[in-house]
Amino acid sequence: MAVTIEELDAAAVASRLDELAQLLLDAHASGMALGLQAPLSRDGARAAYADAAAGLAAGERVLLVARDGDELVGAVQIDRSETGNGRHRGELRRLVVRTDRRGAGVGSALMTAAVEHARGMELRLLWLSTHEGTHADRFYEQLGWTRVGVIPDWAVLPNGDLAGNAFYFLRLANID
Ligand SMILES: CC(C)(COP(=O)(O)OP(=O)(O)OC[C@H]1O[C@@H](n2cnc3c(N)ncnc32)[C@H](O)[C@@H]1OP(=O)(O)O)[C@@H](O)C(=O)NCCC(=O)NCCS
Repeated sequence: MAVTIEELDAAAVASRLDELAQLLLDAHASGMALGLQAPLSRDGARAAYADAAAGLAAGERVLLVARDGDELVGAVQIDRSETGNGRHRGELRRLVVRTDRRGAGVGSALMTAAVEHARGMELRLLWLSTHEGTHADRFYEQLGWTRVGVIPDWAVLPNGDLAGNAFYFLRLANID
């Protein structure tokens, strides 16, 4: 696999909005909402990453992409909690691999790099949620994350159905 993982700054996000948007459109086509309401337009998907770019400058968020040559084939972001007593905690969000590159280790490589970056941000706990019963719901357990359980009716799927979300965590350090 010739894929490399790299961090994007706000300027790089702005210059690659179309490719990033395509990842979100691919996710919706797979039935995964990634926090976004359907129907998701290209402009809506571009806006989601344009908004995300703001937190990058402030150091509150890291956006990692998987690159094959000059093509973006996947992405993931880590958001530090804004809660006063939760600054050691981060949410892993919007993991997505381009449809034609799934099943080749790109998602796993993004997750490994995200954990490494989270340590660099001095985070001690990561958490995430994903739609119950999906491929992603099995994927995180395979990577060693702990599945806490499911909150029913958490999100509206791209097809309009309500879905439960499974919640996961990964401890990066023991909390004193
Ligand atoms: C979930 C996702 C990010 C995984 O990325 P990926 O690059 O396909 O994952 P990997 O290739 O690293 O695969 C990891 C494991 O999942 C398996 N896998 C990957 N794609 C699969 C598929 N479509 N069906 C079944 N198993 C699959 C791999 O075989 C591998 O298992 P193994 O280590 O036992 O061989 C990707 O499928 C995706 O973008 N899905 C749509 C968006 C989404 O669900 N995001 C998560 C939101 S929380």
